[in-house]
Amino acid sequence: MGGKQSFPIVKLDREKIVIVTGGNTGIGYETAKWIAMMGATVIIACRSEERAKAAIEKMNEDFKKEKEKRKDLIEDETLAVEFMKVDMASLKSVMAFINEFKESGRKLHSLVCNAGIGWVPQYKLPLTNYLSHFLIIAHLLPIMMKSGEDCRIVSVSSSGHTYSCDFDLENIQGKKYTPETFDRFLYYRRSKLYQVMHMFSLNRRIKNSNVTVNSLHPGFVQSEFTRAFEDQGRYMFLWKFGKSFGKLIDMSCVSLR
Ligand SMILES: NC(=O)c1ccc[n+]([C@@H]2O[C@H](COP(=O)([O-])OP(=O)(O)OC[C@H]3O[C@@H](n4cnc5c(N)ncnc54)[C@H](OP(=O)(O)O)[C@@H]3O)[C@@H](O)[C@H]2O)c1
Repeated sequence: MGGKQSFPIVKLDREKIVIVTGGNTGIGYETAKWIAMMGATVIIACRSEERAKAAIEKMNEDFKKEKEKRKDLIEDETLAVEFMKVDMASLKSVMAFINEFKESGRKLHSLVCNAGIGWVPQYKLPLTNYLSHFLIIAHLLPIMMKSGEDCRIVSVSSSGHTYSCDFDLENIQGKKYTPETFDRFLYYRRSKLYQVMHMFSLNRRIKNSNVTVNSLHPGFVQSEFTRAFEDQGRYMFLWKFGKSFGKLIDMSCVSLR
């Protein structure tokens, strides 16, 4: 993990509350860390307490090293990063997370819908990537709407949603699912398409509110994402090759799908 910072550093108030789903590694880790290093309170919503706590420790180590190199980060000794438990593959766990946050009575200024699995051989994929985020947004949006100016929902999607991907109502309802016909690559792309469609439709409904809706493709990022397709030689080759070419390899991956 790691990487260069390519965005302006702004001072954020500790009162600003940001949730990052899947903030214990990869893109979510860096996102949570940098937002915290600018001053906000960040809640990393993760399924493993152990991994989350180790991540918070590592974030503070990274913070100390970063502070030795630069002067524009917060003066505090430690980052305001907290852990909340959520398993995005379980609606029961997602509801428990939502209720715990509601009961805390806290405001919510930004929600980064990042947790995701790629190409896993199981039907839980749309649940983790899309449906659970849908539920969290539906329940926490009213809180965001009362949390003051400039609140943001950021959905971490993928350019994969644009390639050989369609919206199929029966499929999204699980009616066509069988273990034999399950296409993990297609399901991943679809889950990302649903995220994008959700953001467009949400934006139409709340565009004049204090909450902006954003959807992004992160580019080609070296993370733990490959855990899901280590058995797929072709994709692993492209991923490793991508270490040298970054964005370019992203385009190459796309043309193979
Ligand atoms: N890397 C890329 O090049 C790339 C490209 C396009 C889009 N994206 C998107 O970027 C997002 C982040 O991916 P990444 O590359 O950072 O992958 P990653 O390193 O594998 O991180 C994924 C994060 O999601 C969490 N997660 C997975 N299943 C979960 C569950 N059931 N409940 C709670 N958390 C869960 C993981 O937690 P655990 O550590 O507990 O597994 C981890 O924190 C994903 O939505 C992905 O689709 C990535």
